[in-house]
Amino acid sequence: MRRTGSSEHVVLAMTGASGLPYALRLLDCLIAAGCRVSLITSKAAHAVAALELDQPFPARHDALAAELGGRFGAAEGQVKGFARQDWTAPFASGSNPPDAMVVCPCTTGTLGAIINGLSDSLIERTADVCIKERRDLVIVPREAPLSAIALGQMTRLAELGVVILPPAPAFYHRPQTIEDLIDFTVARILDQIGVAHSLHARWGDEG
Ligand SMILES: Cc1cc2nc3c(=O)[nH]c(=O)nc-3n(C[C@H](O)[C@H](O)[C@H](O)COP(=O)(O)O)c2cc1C
Repeated sequence: MRRTGSSEHVVLAMTGASGLPYALRLLDCLIAAGCRVSLITSKAAHAVAALELDQPFPARHDALAAELGGRFGAAEGQVKGFARQDWTAPFASGSNPPDAMVVCPCTTGTLGAIINGLSDSLIERTADVCIKERRDLVIVPREAPLSAIALGQMTRLAELGVVILPPAPAFYHRPQTIEDLIDFTVARILDQIGVAHSLHARWGDEG
């Protein structure tokens, strides 16, 4: 898989696993770094958003992009939303792949669909494009415990160069808040796709 210096166009896919606060913080950081962001959500992501976020996601993809882009101070056109079956999205074609895709949070269902190349939704198709065109693909799976099915699928994805990055907080940086825990994982994701951030000092650097 390609390892870039930086990612200008990032596809952020949110699926129906718990962990949407990670995705929102990631979006915030991508916008702040000047990235162009294409958003895709699964149907289940909207059901989970209604339960774990203060505000539910608007049903329409364009309204969702406008709402979240506005919340995080995006420039006009910086964040675009795409319908989950929009096969005409530019990055659905291998001729126009994104620099990077992050599936955050990723369900075991979407994980299975990606490793089996189903391409039955824009999320699955874009992941397939990233794998075949050797673009950065970071998957943030959230499930516990993990079955042998999911573990096997993650191994196969890792062998293809996909980064499997579970939201596993560390404690050596002495987190004080939930936001600190979220930032730890988001920093790791940004590092993987070459997007600069200053979420916290790196181990071994001055704090
Ligand atoms: C509140 C809630 C939390 C869920 N959390 C997870 C989870 O952490 N991981 C997971 O794999 N599935 C989780 N699910 C189940 C998925 O949403 C469900 O399997 C869905 O079909 C996944 O579809 P998607 O991959 O298209 O988003 C959760 C469902 C709900 C309602």
